[in-house]
Amino acid sequence: PQRKSGSGDVSPEIHEDMEDLFVEIRKELQGRDPELCKVAEYYFDGQGKAIRPMIAIIMARAINAHLQGSSQSFLLPQQKKLALVTEMIHTATLVHDDVIDRSNKRRGKPSVNALFGERRTIVGGDYVLAKAGAMVARLNSDEVTEILAQVLEDLVHGEFMQMDSSGDNSERFAHYIGKTFNKTASLMAYSCKGVAILGGSDDSLAEKAFQYGKHLGIAFQLVDDLLDFVSSTAEMGKPVAADLQLGLATAPVLFAAQKFPELNPLIERRFSEPDDVAKALELVKKSDGLEETKILAQRYCSEAVRYANFLKPSVYRDDLVLLTEKVVNRTK
Ligand code: FPP
Ligand code: MG
Ligand code: MG
Repeated sequence: PQRKSGSGDVSPEIHEDMEDLFVEIRKELQGRDPELCKVAEYYFDGQGKAIRPMIAIIMARAINAHLQGSSQSFLLPQQKKLALVTEMIHTATLVHDDVIDRSNKRRGKPSVNALFGERRTIVGGDYVLAKAGAMVARLNSDEVTEILAQVLEDLVHGEFMQMDSSGDNSERFAHYIGKTFNKTASLMAYSCKGVAILGGSDDSLAEKAFQYGKHLGIAFQLVDDLLDFVSSTAEMGKPVAADLQLGLATAPVLFAAQKFPELNPLIERRFSEPDDVAKALELVKKSDGLEETKILAQRYCSEAVRYANFLKPSVYRDDLVLLTEKVVNRTK
């Protein structure tokens, strides 16, 4: 297929691959208890961005095109399953995350915990994870199973790192980037590696896929952390400066603290005193923290592009590049 130049959209095959994504996931979630299914299905309503399966699907097609030496390629059924699994793992973490963060809204509707209560929500998240685990087992690849187990460990580790605000100023940025890898980029990186392995990549090619996903994933979270400061509740479907209110110092604040060291004690006490959130918000806006965060995200995206360009040219390799642009320029 010809790329529609300047259309700003990924290839139509990608949309076709994604069309039945949520229907397929809801099918996978069917089981003995209809009430449990209702909790588990709640966030698979088609309102999410589904960025993770999209990354996996585009990488799969780009890898397949590379290995077949053609500009077009097909998606293998196992690669499609892995794409579903990425969305299921991600959603299971959101379900638990909303309990941990005591959120009452997500994507403009009541959060799963607001609707079903905390106890059912926790178990519902576990159920999604259990179903995803069974799907991974059916991929019949020990290597991919191991990879996805690693992703789960990283997600848990990332969430745990976020609960810890120790460390001095100089270590804080490295801690933040490490946390960001675990919490967001690991799933993207390892799913890129997983579809590459399922497509028959050798170690070196699978590593290129991994690095693409890792850099894109860190860029994605940097932009997310930036949008937390600038987006309105209407756009994001959640309150502005939610991270500060949760006590979290993300890239914009960490950059701002380089210019305004008076932010450091606020960061250390996790913005817990009455005026801390407002004060931090003001200093972030006065600093170049938001611009610097965007520039850092752009640098991670350039690295992602560099890894994509190890692949042979194809429309899907172009889609990998386009995706990096979409990630940096998104507004929600
Ligand atoms: C969303 O972050 C949360 C994550 C991406 C990871 C959450 C991980 C866990 C709860 C632990 C692991 C759980 C499982 C099931 C393996 P956020 O709170 O910054 O995003 P939000 O603004 O969308 O709520
Ligand atoms: Mg949250
Ligand atoms: Mg959270």
